[in-house]
Amino acid sequence: MARLVIVSNRVTSPKERAAKAGGLAVALREALGKRGGLWFGWSGETEVGASAEPKVFRSGRITYGLLTLDPEDQRAHYAGYANGTLWPLCHYRLGLVSFRRADWEGYRRVNEHFARALLPMLKPDDIIWVHDYHLIPLASELRKLGFEGRIGYFHHIPWPTPAVYLSLPSHAALVQDLSQYDLVGLQTESDVRALLTYISSEVRGWLAPGGFVTLGPRRFRVAAYPIGIDAEAFVEDARAAVGSEEMKRLHASLAGRALAVGVDRLDYSKGLPNKFAAFGELLKSWPEHRSTVTMMQIAPVSRGEVAEYRSLRRELEELAGSINGEYAEFDWVPLRYLNRPFQRATLAAIYRTARIGLVTPLRDGMNLVAKEYVAAQDPKDPGVLVLSRFAGAVDEMSGALIINPYDVEGMAEALHTALLMPLEERRERWRANMDKVESNTIHHWCEHFISELATANETAPDPL
Ligand code: G6P
Repeated sequence: MARLVIVSNRVTSPKERAAKAGGLAVALREALGKRGGLWFGWSGETEVGASAEPKVFRSGRITYGLLTLDPEDQRAHYAGYANGTLWPLCHYRLGLVSFRRADWEGYRRVNEHFARALLPMLKPDDIIWVHDYHLIPLASELRKLGFEGRIGYFHHIPWPTPAVYLSLPSHAALVQDLSQYDLVGLQTESDVRALLTYISSEVRGWLAPGGFVTLGPRRFRVAAYPIGIDAEAFVEDARAAVGSEEMKRLHASLAGRALAVGVDRLDYSKGLPNKFAAFGELLKSWPEHRSTVTMMQIAPVSRGEVAEYRSLRRELEELAGSINGEYAEFDWVPLRYLNRPFQRATLAAIYRTARIGLVTPLRDGMNLVAKEYVAAQDPKDPGVLVLSRFAGAVDEMSGALIINPYDVEGMAEALHTALLMPLEERRERWRANMDKVESNTIHHWCEHFISELATANETAPDPL
C-alpha cells in the first residue's frame, strides 16, 4: 500500500486529544495511522527568514513535518490572499474581497516554501493529499521541482460560479495551478458544475464524462466528495451525555424551556446577524414564544487579524445586547451568546437537548454542525434541523426545514413551525437526515477520496 502524505495549513498535533480535535483531524490521523504516513503543514510559528527545514518528529506510525514561515509571508498568505481574497470570493462576498499583488506573491512564496521543504521527504509512489484554499498552488510548485507522483486536492469551501470567480484577477493562474493535481475534490455537484463551466468556457479546457478535464498538456479529474462526520462517535457522545452533570446543569438552567442552538465559528459567511435578527423577529411576531424558548449561540472567535472579523464581533455583541435588552425577563435571558469553543462531548449534550438546530450560513462548503446536530438527537424525541439552502449539507439533509438566510421573517416563521412540529413529523424528518449521516461518514469520505486518487491516472479516458 502506497504511503499517504497529508498537507494542510493547520496540523492537529498528536497531543491534541480526540475529544477536542474535530472529526476531520481524527479521520485524517486514522487514515495516516492505517497506511503509515506523513502529515505536513505550518508549525504555527513565524521567524524572519525562516528556513525550508521542517521540524520532523514521529508519533506512532505518523511522521509530522512542521514548517515555520517568515512573518511577512505568513501575513500575506493567511490574512492576505487566503482569508482576505479567496475566502470571501468563494463565499460569494465580492464586497469583502481585497486583492493586492503583494498578497498574491506572498501566497505563492509560501506555497513554494512548502514545496521546497516537502520535496526531500517524498517518495515517488507516495499519494499526496493537499487540503484547502491555502495551498492551491502546491502541486504546481512540486511539479516545478520535478515531482511526478499522484497529488490530489480537496477544497473544503464552496467553489463560486464563473460570474463571481472571474472577479479574481488571478483566476486563470489559480485554475492552471489546480490542473497540476490528478484529482480535485469539491463538496457538492453544484461546486463541480461551477468549476467545470469556468474551465470549458473561459480557459478552453476539454471536458469528458465523469469530470475528466484536459487543459493544455494536463489531464485531471474534478468530482464531488461531500464530507461527512464520525456519526458513531457523535451518537455515543450524545448517549453518554444523558444524565451527565453537564446535561443536568443545562436542563436546570432552561427550566423547561425549549432550546434552539447554533454553533459556528465567528465568521461573516455564517449569517449570524440574520440568525439573531430572526430570533428577535420570532419573539416580536409570536409573543407566545417569549419566555418559552431560549436561543444559544456558540461562536468561537476566529481570524481576529482580519478586520471584517473584528467588526462582525462588535456587530453581534450589539445585536445580542439589544435582543436581550428588549425581551429578557428577570428570570429569562432569551439569547445566550458564548464566544468560546467547547469539547465534543459538551456539544453533543447541548445538541441533544436542543429542540432546534439552527444552521443558517449565507454560504457554506458543507457545514458539519448540521450533521452533528442530527447525529446527537434522541431517536424517540428528535429535534428539528433548520438549514440554509446555501449550505452544502442541504443536498443530503432532505428532512430539514430549509430556509433562505437572507429572509429574516421566513427564518422566524421556520422557527415557529419547528417549535410547534408534532412528534411524528419530527421523527420522519430526522430519520431521512440520519440515514444520510450514517451512510456517508468521514471514514467513507476519506477512503473514497484516497482510493480514487490512487487510481486517478488509470481511469482517465483518452482526450476527445
Ligand atoms: C474552515 C476552513 C479550514 C480552516 C477552518 C478554521 O473550515 O475550510 O481550512 O482551517 O475554517 O479556520 P482557521 O483560519 O482558523 O484555520
